[in-house]
Amino acid sequence: MSEQPLFKVTIDNITIEVPAGTTILNAARKIGGEVAPPAMCYYSKLEGTGGKCRTCLVEVSKGSEKDPRPMPKLVASCRTTVMDGMEVKNITSEKVVDARNGVVEFLLINHPLDCPICDQAGECHLQDLSYNHGKEGTRYEFQRRTFKKHDLGPHIQLHMTRCILCYRCVYTADQLTNKREHGVLDRGDHSEIATHIEKSLDNDFIGNIIDVCPVGALTDKTFRFKNRVWFLKPMDAHRDCPTCSGKVTLWNRGEEVFRVTARKDQWGEVEEWICNTCRFEKKQSSDWVIEGPRLIDRHSVISQGHYAGSVGTHLPTDTFVAVHNGRKPKLMMDIHTVSEVNKPEITLSKLDRPAHSTDFKSNQD
Ligand code: SF4
Ligand code: FES
Repeated sequence: MSEQPLFKVTIDNITIEVPAGTTILNAARKIGGEVAPPAMCYYSKLEGTGGKCRTCLVEVSKGSEKDPRPMPKLVASCRTTVMDGMEVKNITSEKVVDARNGVVEFLLINHPLDCPICDQAGECHLQDLSYNHGKEGTRYEFQRRTFKKHDLGPHIQLHMTRCILCYRCVYTADQLTNKREHGVLDRGDHSEIATHIEKSLDNDFIGNIIDVCPVGALTDKTFRFKNRVWFLKPMDAHRDCPTCSGKVTLWNRGEEVFRVTARKDQWGEVEEWICNTCRFEKKQSSDWVIEGPRLIDRHSVISQGHYAGSVGTHLPTDTFVAVHNGRKPKLMMDIHTVSEVNKPEITLSKLDRPAHSTDFKSNQD
C-alpha cells in the first residue's frame, strides 16, 4: 500500500504535517489545547458523524499552496479535509468567535437552562461551550419546545427537551448494536429522537448512548439524582467481562459505587465501549479490580479538591500543631455525631428517586 503524502497545514499560526485526508478538526486536535475547535456532533469513533451542529466552524484564510484563495465562508472543520499549504484560523479569527457565539445562542433556543437539576451538569459539553461563547441573555421570545420524558428500556431515560439533535446516539445504536430501534423522527423543530412505537432499547451495548450524548438528554436511570459528579471520585477499574473489555471508570463516594461509565479521552470521547452488565449491574466495589484514580483535566469541575499530590496539587505537609507552636485545635463539635439527618432505616444513596422531606428526621424527632 502506498504511503499517504503529508500535507503542511497552519492552524492559528502553528504549522504541522498531517496525512492527506485528515480533517481540519483532527489536525487541530494534534496540536491540541485551544487550537482544537469544540465539537458537539462529531465523534471520531463513529462513522458519518459531524456536520450537524456547526460549533466547529473555522476560517480558511488560504485554501492551499496551489490555490491560495481563501474559502468564501466559514467551514465545518470536522467535515473539511486539509490541503497542502492550507492556513486556518480558529480562535485567532473574530469571524469564527462571533459565529460560534451565534451557534451557541441557536443551540440554546430550545435547550432548557435546568443545569442545577440536570445529571449532566459538570460534564456537559453544551454547558462548557456556553461558558466560553455564550451570551447572558436570549433574543428568543417564543415558547421553547418541550417533550415528555421517555424511558428507553429499563436503564435509560430520554429527556428530549434537552436534546440538541447531534445524532451521535443514533450512529451509536446503528454501528454498535445489531438491532437498531431508534432514530430521528420528523423534521425541523418537530424533529425528535424516538424509538419506533416506544420499543425499548435492550441491546447489550446500548448503554453507550448515555456516554456519547453531549448534553443531559440521555441519562442513566441507575444514577439519576443520586449525586453530583463533582462529589464523586472517579477511579479506573476493570473486571473480567465476557462481553466487553471490562475497562471502566467507577464514580465512587467512599466505598460506594454510584455509577459506572466508559473511560473518556481528553476530547470527551469513549476510549472503549462497555456493555450494559458492567455499566448497570456491577455496582459493588467487590465486582471490580481498582487500578487507581482517573486523571481528570484540572480545568474540569470534577477535579476540584481531588487527588491532592497525585495530579499536580500539593497539600501542606505541616500539621496544625506544628504551625501553631504546639497549640492543639479546639474542636467545637464533632460533625459525625450530628450529621445523621436521614431516618436510620433509609440509606439515601440507595433510593431510586430523589430524596424528599419524609426521608429525613424532622426537627421534633
Ligand atoms: S439524545 Fe443526546 S446523543 Fe442523541 S441526538 Fe440528542 S443530544 Fe445527541
Ligand atoms: S462538530 Fe462539526 S458540525 Fe458538529
